[in-house]
Amino acid sequence: MSSLTQRYTTVAIVLHWVIAVLILGLLATGWYSEILPKGDARTNLVMLHKSVGLLVFGFIMIRIFWRLSHQPPALPASVPAWQQTSAGLLHFALYALMFIQPVSGYLSSLLGAKPVTFFGILIPQWLEKNDAIRPFFHDTHKVAGIVFTVLVVIHIAAAIKHQLAKDGIAQRMLLGAH
Ligand code: HEM
Ligand code: HEM
Repeated sequence: MSSLTQRYTTVAIVLHWVIAVLILGLLATGWYSEILPKGDARTNLVMLHKSVGLLVFGFIMIRIFWRLSHQPPALPASVPAWQQTSAGLLHFALYALMFIQPVSGYLSSLLGAKPVTFFGILIPQWLEKNDAIRPFFHDTHKVAGIVFTVLVVIHIAAAIKHQLAKDGIAQRMLLGAH
């Protein structure tokens, strides 16, 4: 029997790719802003980073809700147990980071009383500036950013490995014919 690997739902696939593109952009703009000198270019880049970060947070919340209400397709039995476990742990960590990263970024800006706009619309400052708590979220955003970058690289390497092995795993996250 030919093994037609089951795939993720269309909603899960579309959300995965929209969020993946936006997160790759956020990791790139986040790190690039670190090396840019203070000035208009940096301010504009960080403003764009914040807007896209809030936008992706909306998609992520929908995705987490979808994931909790839809079982992903089981991996074929040909995938060794240790790979099934590590894929599960890695995916869980990616979901956790998709939540921690935008929340820590927003709280760091909010508690630092740094303006946050959503594509030009100013989000009200609804909490007072707090220099005691802000560093926690600022540091979380940085450390989680490093971990996120490393895990995304591992994730992409695993996807490429499966694609090269032509074992049908990468197809699970693609639309179209098998
Ligand atoms: C999934 C969403 C996000 C990802 C993957 C992401 C990633 C990153 C990374 C890798 C950096 C560079 C490391 C650092 O300086 O911390 C960064 C910087 C930054 N991010 Fe985000 N970010 C996200 C969402 C947000 C949001 C929603 C906000 C605020 C509303 C935000 C605000 C910032 C700011 C202000 C910096 C510059 C930090 C500084 O140098 O003071 N980020 N981000
Ligand atoms: C950059 C941000 C990305 C994030 C945060 C991310 C996150 C995730 C998560 C959480 C899953 C598990 C889905 C679930 O079981 O609910 C997943 C699956 C998958 N991702 Fe990504 N991904 C990203 C980028 C990519 C890229 C660039 C590729 C391809 C090169 C890719 C290929 C895949 C594949 C093939 C699967 C399905 C794995 C399976 O069948 O078990 N992802 N991704």
